[in-house]
Amino acid sequence: MSNSFRLFLAVTTIAVCWSNHVPVSRQNTRLGVSLVDIKTKLTRTSVNNDFESGSPDPWIDTSPTSVYWNVEDFSTPTEVNYPPPTPSMGTKYLRATRDSQLAPGLLILRTVTFTAFPGDAISFKFWIRSKYTGGNTLDLVLVIDDVETTLLALSSYSTSVNVEWRTASSSFPISTPTNLTLIFYGYCGGNSEDAIAIDDILFNSSITEQGTPNS
Ligand SMILES: *[C@@H]1O[C@H](CO)[C@@H](O)[C@H](O)[C@H]1NC(C)=O
Ligand SMILES: *[C@@H]1O[C@H](CO)[C@@H](O)[C@H](O)[C@H]1NC(C)=O
Repeated sequence: MSNSFRLFLAVTTIAVCWSNHVPVSRQNTRLGVSLVDIKTKLTRTSVNNDFESGSPDPWIDTSPTSVYWNVEDFSTPTEVNYPPPTPSMGTKYLRATRDSQLAPGLLILRTVTFTAFPGDAISFKFWIRSKYTGGNTLDLVLVIDDVETTLLALSSYSTSVNVEWRTASSSFPISTPTNLTLIFYGYCGGNSEDAIAIDDILFNSSITEQGTPNS
């Protein structure tokens, strides 16, 4: 286990404790929006985001360190020496963005709680790169009643030669309608080639919002 991954685990543990103990209304001060406001509007398919609007909404950035999720345009990358691969559609995506010292850190991107149905699934595109293999991490985690289940762990794609967007998908391991939260946990290191980006989050359901099967 690498030191940076140990640190990631430690920081994750701290962050999880932190998020469990901070009142919901204070968890997302970065965007200045209330989880309660969003909850009334969030339907499963509005989890979809290709980031072309320039906003991460309804995804919420609760990253605890100086690294944050930035909607970046391909034509104006923040870290000019290490642009991402060309997006397959559109020009915008969400990228882990560091300060000018490239300080490493944990990243969190989450939904509010919403009701999911058996057969529901999510897919998204991702690009993850690091100087050392496995150096950066991106996990998709499902939270039900404060219990976290890792749906996808993508750090094996984090290599110095990964220069492509890939698609990842996962169904939700639920057998009845369930209130759940989705969280991306990332760790971006401090090397210049370290990078994490997400695009084209797409909710895939066999059931409509009313709970009846799609035709
Ligand atoms: C989900 O949460 C809402 C609001 O708390 C509640 O009314 C509803 O019964 C819950 N649904 C399920 C399937 O647990
Ligand atoms: C949606 O999920 C179904 C079943 O898992 C799968 O066959 C289909 O390819 C998925 N569609 C998309 C757009 O991901």
